[in-house]
Amino acid sequence: MAALLMAASSHGEQHHKDEHGNPPDVQEYIARMVEESRADWQKPDEVIRALDLRAGQVVCDVGAGPGYFSIPVARAVGESGRVYAVDVDPRILAALRDRLRQSGVHNVTPVLSLADDALLPAGRCDLILIVDTYHHFPDGPAYLRKLTRALRPGGRIANVDFHKRELPVGPPPDHKIAREAFLADANAAGLKVVQEHTFLPYQYFVVLAPLIAP
Ligand SMILES: C[S@@+](CC[C@H](N)C(=O)[O-])C[C@H]1O[C@@H](n2cnc3c(N)ncnc32)[C@H](O)[C@@H]1O
Repeated sequence: MAALLMAASSHGEQHHKDEHGNPPDVQEYIARMVEESRADWQKPDEVIRALDLRAGQVVCDVGAGPGYFSIPVARAVGESGRVYAVDVDPRILAALRDRLRQSGVHNVTPVLSLADDALLPAGRCDLILIVDTYHHFPDGPAYLRKLTRALRPGGRIANVDFHKRELPVGPPPDHKIAREAFLADANAAGLKVVQEHTFLPYQYFVVLAPLIAP
């Protein structure tokens, strides 16, 4: 049985977490990640447009969940492109595989990762996308350094995550990483901001590249 951890949120509630840092009712968690109303604030079409993807590119979606982004990103890079959909939780990858079967998308490769390593091949990714997941990584700068090794020359890392304040959606503030703290981690990992988008109501959206080209 999954080990349960408890964390007190600023709402005063107890938030149970399993060994992957996910809520124990994983089916409800998955349903929330793919519910239609998420598009009102997550704006997936605008996010994907802002990523400026090209046919044939390789994208790694780290903390992919059930593929809210992996599947439309796979369509954006086309059949000559590929998405590595990385997640640490096998139950969530099973949901991703079901959604892949239903979607008819054939260019997504699910990757069951380690908590501290996405297990990506070196020099392979044009873009690494991280959405609402960075706060799960046990050591952010070390994780970003490992991800940087998976980039092709000219490759980028995009991070979308909740602002660290009370919001109508997302985890409580004490589970979030503030934009400034994330940027400090990125800097420590040898990454610089090359683009920042501000159209999302609840999240920051920064695009990074290595200070020294890989
Ligand atoms: C809030 S969900 C976001 C999913 C997806 N990016 C989205 O936007 O719908 C966070 C996901 O990260 C996964 N995760 C947690 N810790 C992880 C780790 N250390 N490495 C990779 N994935 C992780 C969880 O299993 C979960 O599916």
